[in-house]
Amino acid sequence: MKLQTRHLLGLEGMSREDLTLILDTAVSFKEVLERPIKKVPPLQGKTIVNLFFESSTRTRISFELAERRLSADVVNFAAAGSSVSKGETLKDTARNIEAMKIDMVVIRHASPGAAHFLSRVVKANVINAGDGAHEHPTQGLLDMFTLREKFGRLEGIRVCIVGDILHSRVARSNIHGLRAMGAEVSVCGPATLIPRGIEQLGVKVYHRLEDVIPHTDVLNVLRIQLERQESGFFPSLREYHRYFGVTKERVAQAGHAITIMHPGPINRDVELSADLADGEHSVILEQVTNGVAVRMAVLYLLGSR
Ligand code: CP
Repeated sequence: MKLQTRHLLGLEGMSREDLTLILDTAVSFKEVLERPIKKVPPLQGKTIVNLFFESSTRTRISFELAERRLSADVVNFAAAGSSVSKGETLKDTARNIEAMKIDMVVIRHASPGAAHFLSRVVKANVINAGDGAHEHPTQGLLDMFTLREKFGRLEGIRVCIVGDILHSRVARSNIHGLRAMGAEVSVCGPATLIPRGIEQLGVKVYHRLEDVIPHTDVLNVLRIQLERQESGFFPSLREYHRYFGVTKERVAQAGHAITIMHPGPINRDVELSADLADGEHSVILEQVTNGVAVRMAVLYLLGSR
């Protein structure tokens, strides 16, 4: 089977068939990652550039590992130290990359739409590794993979995304992907951090954790972006923790086990208590492990179209 798309720019509008194909393919690659020799040949002879215009730990390392484990040739580019710091535009950077006969481009950029733009100016397959507050599709896919592994299905599971939904590309990709697969999705956070009209994406909105905790199977806790405090989105970290911090005491109110997710990096004891982050119901490190398998699946499927 083949993907219906030659780029992975977002999960919005992606078909259930394509999402299922990626998740099923990732199952095979997860098995490869458990072998003593974790390398397979499908992308031998292909060259992939990782264009990171914004900082990243997990996504950058995970993509590079996935590419090397598929035997691709890998070139890493960071904006710091490149000609971007001399004023070169994204379009010129892209055209120079094209001139070097690159097959696939992974891009992280602060501007929403940067990956879409790139896909229009280069012949290579483009994968969005996070574009501003727009989408982070491989994070959405690895979250879905982790949940499908845990629950055996996505249909009907109840997932609440907690925190700064307004500025979150992770929230958007999770909402589109999970809804397409039949999960029930809600969001919870202060009114200032919930985009107006988000209900139109098919999610329920809560402003009190106490109201949603009894009705959810999963809390996907987002990093509170510390710089938002200065812009007045919430009064203080202490106050944010008091009303929206996910803690053992709050989760205990559910009366059933709640799976804890976080895309990282975590502000421990701000949006999520350290004991829950490291607790028996946390799948946070499984998310990181699964990220490599899911990215291998995406690279393999796009590279073999
Ligand atoms: N989850 C995520 O995107 O983390 P990084 O910013 O470290 O890549």
